[in-house]
Formats: sequence, C-alpha cells, structure tokens
Amino acid sequence: MESGIRLRAKDYPMNPSTPFSITPEKGHEWTAPIHERAALAVDVSDLQFGWDTAADPILDIMALQIAREERVFIEGPSGSGKSTLLSLLAGVMTAQKGAVSVLGQRVDALSGAQRDRFRADHIGFIFQMFNLVPYLSLIENVTLPCRFSKRRRKRALRRSASVGAEAVRLMAHLNMADPDLLKRPVTELSVGQQQRVAAARALIGAPEILIADEPTSSLDAHHREAFICLLFDECAKETTTLVFVSHDNSLATMFDRTVSLTQINHARRPRIQIVKEAM
Ligand SMILES: Nc1ncnc2c1ncn2[C@@H]1O[C@H](COP(=O)(O)OP(=O)(O)OP(=O)(O)O)[C@@H](O)[C@H]1O
Ligand SMILES: [Mg+2]
Repeated sequence: MESGIRLRAKDYPMNPSTPFSITPEKGHEWTAPIHERAALAVDVSDLQFGWDTAADPILDIMALQIAREERVFIEGPSGSGKSTLLSLLAGVMTAQKGAVSVLGQRVDALSGAQRDRFRADHIGFIFQMFNLVPYLSLIENVTLPCRFSKRRRKRALRRSASVGAEAVRLMAHLNMADPDLLKRPVTELSVGQQQRVAAARALIGAPEILIADEPTSSLDAHHREAFICLLFDECAKETTTLVFVSHDNSLATMFDRTVSLTQINHARRPRIQIVKEAM
C-alpha cells in the first residue's frame, strides 16, 4: 500500500453509508471481542427494520440462527430485503428493534465505530454493488481489509509471505493473475472482473464469517465454478461460516441449508408485490 494514499470517508468500501470511523493501521485501542467458543455465528431475535420508520417494517424476523462453520444459502424475490438483512448482520446498519449477535457479540449494542472495527476484524462482505475504491489499484483494493485490521493482516500472513502475495494468490484462483490485469485500475475492469476483486477482498485474512450478496451474478459458468471452488475451499480451510445470497437456485444444493427470506420474514408485504407473485 502506498503510504501517501488517504482513504476518504465516502469511499470506505465496507460501510459506505455511515461516517468513516476507523482509521487504517496505528492507534486501535479497541479490539472487537468475540467469544471464540460461541456455538452460533449468527443469532437474530425479534428483529424489526424499516427504511421509513413511520411506515411498516420491511423485515420482521422472530429468529434466525446460523451455527459456526455452517454454509447457508438465503433466497427470496428481488426487493424482499435480502441485502438489507445482510447489512444488519454485518452491522452496516442497526434495526429499530431486536437483537443481532455475531460470534457471541451483540453488534447492535456497539457504537458505529465499534461496529466498523468488528466488521473489519471478523466479517468478509461481498457487496452486491462491489464497493471497490476507484482510486486504489486492484491489489490495494484486495489488501484493504489487512490495512484496517491487524488481525486480518496477521491471518493473511499465515498463508503468504506478504499481504500483496496473498492477494495475488487469491486472484490466481479466480483466474485473474495476469500481470497486465493486476496493474489495471479497477475502474477499467469488466463487471465480472470487479466482482472477483470484491470476492478476493472479502476472503483475504480469513474472516470468521463471509457474507456474500449475489457474488456470482456477473460471472459466466467457468468463472462461477472457479469462484465457488475457491470460496468453499477457503471456508473449509479456515472454518469460516458462509452466508450466501443468490438468485441462482442451482447453487443451493452445495450448501448445508437454504433459508427462504419470505418464510422467516413476517413483515406485511406491499400489495404490489403480492399481486406480482400471484400472476
Ligand atoms: N437505501 C435504501 N433506502 C430506502 N429503501 C431502500 C434502500 N435500500 C433498499 N430499500 C428498499 O428495501 C426493500 C428491500 O431491498 P433489498 O435491497 O434489501 O432487497 P433484495 O432482496 O436484496 O433485492 P435484490 O434481490 O433485487 O437485490 C426494497 O423495497 C427496497 O426498495
Ligand atoms: Mg439485494
């Protein structure tokens, strides 16, 4: 990472919607605690969330539990709240009501800065829209979590001699090790290539939980297979819990369990959606 680069709040890729509240590298007094022996990776109870607090909530989930090391496939129609739920699990936002525990830590009880730190240390997040930082190189994008989290950097260095080498190793598994490609600005990559950069960024430093929001939506069959192989391989090696949202139901059989958001979400659905589903 070039030392002259300053990251700007609005470009913070893990949490673009809230103020920039953690600073790279030095000076972290607070390390996000986890209960290493917590049996559950995710434990949600009585969760209610609405974008418009004056209107009915769009999510009303009595309970959702995901065990450590479990691989869960979450499905649901477009607009049903899958991305919103993932943001709540990762502490990007907090709900109006209910408890969200991740690795034994109540994320909803943490401050915004603490949630950012917790996410940087323990959660790899592949955003639906990727959220790459346009003014950082491809390798700098992939290694970014290791800049925000000493823990992630330490874990990356168990696998490779440097965080840069670890980034290249992950990119090679995603068929993107071509030196010309690695040098290219991320803004000049195809959407499918950007998606793979986002995937490598989430995997680097072996976070305990990987949350993937439609991570294969822009990949062709060949690259999708390479990505899924890497994902499952890394998760097995690092005993990572995998929470995976996709519209591609052919992938569901590879997971331990499928959760249908419409079944667990008791929020009143807008009339328009019910009519469309009935047609
Ligand atoms: N930033 C936002 N502000 C207000 N409403 C939002 C915002 N983001 C999403 N919504 C609304 O919340 C609902 C759930 O959206 P969400 O993105 O979670 O759905 P989704 O299941 O992920 O859909 P898709 O499969 O299309 O990605 C939708 O009605 C959407 O319009
Ligand atoms: Mg979505």
